[in-house]
Amino acid sequence: MVSDFVNGETIVLGVIGNPICHTFSPQIHNTFANCFKQNICYLPFNVKEEELLKALRGAFALDIKGINVTVPYKKSIIKYLYDIDKQAEQIGSVNTLKYTENGYTGYNTDIDGIRYSLENENISLKNKDILIIGAGGAACPAVFLAAKNECRKIIIANRTIENAVKLKENILNFYNADIETISLNDIDDIKNCDIIIQTTTVGFGEQEGLSPIKNNDFYNKKNVEFVFDVIYKPWKTQFLKDAQKAGCKILNGFNMLFYQAVAAEEIWFERKYDENIKKQIIIELSNYFKKINNIE
Ligand code: ATR
Repeated sequence: MVSDFVNGETIVLGVIGNPICHTFSPQIHNTFANCFKQNICYLPFNVKEEELLKALRGAFALDIKGINVTVPYKKSIIKYLYDIDKQAEQIGSVNTLKYTENGYTGYNTDIDGIRYSLENENISLKNKDILIIGAGGAACPAVFLAAKNECRKIIIANRTIENAVKLKENILNFYNADIETISLNDIDDIKNCDIIIQTTTVGFGEQEGLSPIKNNDFYNKKNVEFVFDVIYKPWKTQFLKDAQKAGCKILNGFNMLFYQAVAAEEIWFERKYDENIKKQIIIELSNYFKKINNIE
């Protein structure tokens, strides 16, 4: 049977990371291509750390128009870029590269993913106390967004306090925000938090079944209303289960994954997608994701 899914005019896009086998980005971007009848093919590329520069040069030579960058290269790839978007530079990590004549320009669309996810749930950060758990690659855009949206207070709780302090210091270069840093062990000392954004890997992979918050009274004692976990596999982490039991509104990271991908598409193709079409595509993708992962 003839396959004309790829031909001489196909635009190639892709994602680089290590490991890459669990990525859901090809399904998202190829679904967009399908939906809008674009001659595009989006591929996963597993790149070893010592080959990162070579991979980027190779991608450029091969005219690959757009690249997503995932763990663990969101920070380390910056030094190899031709240019970087101002906001991505401030956040300190990139997840989207756009081909230009001279080389790739880096952007951070994780922040758009978090912003859209919260907006869709009608969650505003303004004048709220926000607890951000973690200080790694996913925490940077979360803290940046909270500071940008004039929240009342940001509390960064992390296992390694030095990383939380570094993140705080970076944000204070750009925003005059009230930021407290604490060790994850001292999380019970927090007085109040309206919203929690969980950005660590606790609850994922080998840490499935664990939560960064051990005390189930935490949510009611601190007046937590809404919790967001960047993890989407498992679909409902222990952290989300506990928060839901305590009466909080919960959201997993699938919407963030989807909306960071949409924002990347909008950068690559310099166009905006219709809200209704986005909503339709995310329903189809989440149903598909649940089906292949046996999620009820
Ligand atoms: P990502 O880019 O996905 O955010 P990362 O930059 O490696 O990944 O960050 C992982 C985050 O999860 C960090 O905040 C890390 O805490 P440390 O700064 O102390 O390393 C946190 N993390 C990972 N495993 C953890 C664990 N078992 N307990 C608590 N925090 C953990």
